[in-house]
Amino acid sequence: MGKRTRRIMVIGSGGREHALAAGIAQSPEKPEVIVAPGNPGIARDAGVLPEMPSSTSDAADWIASHTPDLVVIGPEKPLAEGMADRLAERGIAVVGPSYEAARIEGSKLFAKERMLEAGISTADFRIVRDARETRETVKEWGYPVVLKADGLAQGKGVSVILDDRDLEDALDRFFVRKELKEAQEMIFLEKGLTGPEVSFIALTDGTRFVPFPAARDYKRIHDGDKGPNTGGMGAQTPLGDWKEKDQEAARQIIDRCLWSLRRHGAPFVGFLYAGIMRTPEGLKVLEFNARFGDPEAQVLIPAAGPAFLELLFSAANGSLETAVAMEDLARVAVVLASEGYPEKPVYGAVLEGLEKARQEDHVRIYTAGVAERNGQLVSSGGRVLSVVGEGVDTREARDRAYRAMSHIRLDHARFRKDIAEKPL
Ligand code: AMP
Ligand code: GLY
Repeated sequence: MGKRTRRIMVIGSGGREHALAAGIAQSPEKPEVIVAPGNPGIARDAGVLPEMPSSTSDAADWIASHTPDLVVIGPEKPLAEGMADRLAERGIAVVGPSYEAARIEGSKLFAKERMLEAGISTADFRIVRDARETRETVKEWGYPVVLKADGLAQGKGVSVILDDRDLEDALDRFFVRKELKEAQEMIFLEKGLTGPEVSFIALTDGTRFVPFPAARDYKRIHDGDKGPNTGGMGAQTPLGDWKEKDQEAARQIIDRCLWSLRRHGAPFVGFLYAGIMRTPEGLKVLEFNARFGDPEAQVLIPAAGPAFLELLFSAANGSLETAVAMEDLARVAVVLASEGYPEKPVYGAVLEGLEKARQEDHVRIYTAGVAERNGQLVSSGGRVLSVVGEGVDTREARDRAYRAMSHIRLDHARFRKDIAEKPL
């Protein structure tokens, strides 16, 4: 009897989901891969079903009607809305944490409680109720401090404060103008930490886990790490100065966090992402995310090779296969973003040169904010695409990414020129 082709659905529409789908499609079993809602640039690598309903419970019924063998949920929003629970109730195998486990990203207080319980090192914090209390705590602690709103705020919920002026601006945003709406029911003041940041991501079945290599994400919009924070303008892996002892310490962070989540009755199945700062006192966790990073996924998923799909199935089924060797090529991702991103991206320009860029050796392209108009791809979001180069070292990977990027033409768009440029 011939084996039926298995159908895998990836939920989401960005570069991360494109990378998940492309990684799954490499499996020797040649599964059917569908991304929903996806974007038209993904269509060359996987099926795309744009008509997914936007409400989570309708989406869960709709996904179930396509009888997938496995669903991989990419972004935080459907996870925070309980999509994994809704799918599990329908008997579907899912890579993605439950509503309760996803609170590790959605609620900073929940995350801090898990870290305190598990002995994970993190910044000292205090819940502050108003501007007066905040000013008093700052007087006691000194600068730098960080003001954060509880809940998902799409990267806008954090203000790093270096002096009195920053403080008054942040107090105005958080307590006077209340810009963050429902995300700001609880406000945290944290002691500011300094040091390079590392993205450490592991696939887990709730107990066992497989870590990906450490990666760096370039968050600021401009070269030299200037300007506002974005979702990520580039990424690189491996990190030259990341030693075996750092890897071990990071593994311990994941292990302890998983332990605390199990103890809390919320085992975490999916990609657990620790945003780590390498301080002079050792690794400290800035935040956990309940999903893969974007653009970290674009440089990390290819490292899992053709076994990626089997890993996902084994994680979803609670029997994660941990004897996997990640391949150790260097990869660099450069993101092409619309002008005005992150505040007010302008789009609608025609994207040209993609085919030429794809013809460069050792390059992959993952699309995000693109739409189709008269048979052409046009920009339709803040981050339009990412170009990933791979090589034996970071320099080769970087050169390949930028060479491929040089073939792409898009009006009103920009990318950082300094991704992976400086040695770490
Ligand atoms: P978060 O949303 O908590 O990851 O914060 C977003 C960014 O703010 C991080 O990637 C850091 O660059 C910065 N940040 C957050 N917390 C701190 C902290 N305690 N000290 C210094 N920088 C921080
Ligand atoms: N690139 C950072 C993130 O996905 O959260």
